[in-house]
Amino acid sequence: MLKAIILIGGPMKGTRFRPLSLELPKPLFPVAGFPIIYHHIEACSKLSDVREIILIGFYQPNEALNKFISQSQVEFQVQIRYLQEYSALGTAGGLYHFRDQIMTGGPEMFFVMNADVCGDFPLQEMLDFHRTRPSTAICTMLATEATRQQSLTYGCVVENKDTHEILHYVEKPETFVSTTINCGIYLLTPGIFQPLEVAFKKNLEENYSFDFQVPSKEVIRLEQDVFVPMAATGTVYVFQSTRFWSQIKSAGAAIYANRHYLVIYRRTHPERLATNGEGKPKVTGDVFIHPTAQVHPTAVLGPNVTIGRNVVVGEGVRVRESIILEGATLQDHCCILHAIIGWHSSVGFWTRVEGTPNDPNPNKPFAKLEIPSMFTEDGRLNPSITVIGSSVQVPSEVIVLNSIVLPHKDLSGCYKNQIIL
Ligand code: GDD
Repeated sequence: MLKAIILIGGPMKGTRFRPLSLELPKPLFPVAGFPIIYHHIEACSKLSDVREIILIGFYQPNEALNKFISQSQVEFQVQIRYLQEYSALGTAGGLYHFRDQIMTGGPEMFFVMNADVCGDFPLQEMLDFHRTRPSTAICTMLATEATRQQSLTYGCVVENKDTHEILHYVEKPETFVSTTINCGIYLLTPGIFQPLEVAFKKNLEENYSFDFQVPSKEVIRLEQDVFVPMAATGTVYVFQSTRFWSQIKSAGAAIYANRHYLVIYRRTHPERLATNGEGKPKVTGDVFIHPTAQVHPTAVLGPNVTIGRNVVVGEGVRVRESIILEGATLQDHCCILHAIIGWHSSVGFWTRVEGTPNDPNPNKPFAKLEIPSMFTEDGRLNPSITVIGSSVQVPSEVIVLNSIVLPHKDLSGCYKNQIIL
């Protein structure tokens, strides 16, 4: 029996999806028609031995999360539970804190998955790989190749090329270590609780204080506190994948992830992709249209477009490389390129909403998505995809270019390279 644990973090981490909604937890942001962590759960459910999926985070339980969990349980016929940390315990603190819940039922192994990554996760291959490692193996880490420059923003791994044992691990190094990077997807055996206990006690001892103003330190970082000392002890191994994988920290990354998940649908769920036909809009490339959306047959959509639940798309509308979220209205002849249109927003007649993609450099092998800083050195907004927050009204016959619009705004004119508060 296997389990899977998804680390969903909490409201303090990763605020960059905020312009879209101040309420919805980021792991529930829809990509290719489904919440980000739906894709994790779907991947786990393909392994018949996975009997329970545990979400660990520090969000207050909320209606959106509860609804998502109950619907996913029914759809995938697997038990899903949310365990809430009393404060942010780090990437391994929750695993240690909830060790009894994780071990109930006696799982042989369990996957641990960061919620803010997406990809074509080779979970079965990781299992097969792990089972052929020596009996001392406690962890198999999924890794991929990045460029030298980009590797510095990830966990970096040096392996023994023959045995794939991790010999050296550095989290976000200051200087180059390796182009093999940690994908934030692990397969662990119950043996992991011993090094977790060591890390937990060490943190407590080193930070112990009788000063009542100093909070006790119960955070455990899986990367620095656990993997670093485990390297070269015959316990951690790396499984390299060349399949699609990306971090999904910014709204721009959602468009990139959308494209790749739509490509995966071609193989796994072709029925989710829109097709051309009489009375239907013209579709080019991969497009997802929710069955409840009303799309005028003269609209042209694609490639890489997701049209959410109850969206209305008018006559002659053009949408490319974009995500249109639930309840939005695109009025006749508007044009949406490289943009996210938030929940229940409306874009006026003949309006153009356009952004600039941050796609990986196609000339650099193994390049990952660029995550540019929001501002240039002289304080201007770096061009990126345009994000229209929820319940925003964009008037007719205007252009909104490379801008971020916060929720509930009623725009009155054209905007270029601006954050509209
Ligand atoms: N439950 C819980 N509690 N989850 C957390 C906490 C916490 O206190 N802190 C972070 N997480 C979750 C986040 O939601 C995210 O899914 C994941 O853990 C990792 O979050 P970060 O701490 O922001 O790390 P990172 O994304 O910068 O780097 C990690 O992922 C990279 C791959 O995307 C590291 O594991 C890197 O080594 C790795 O390359």
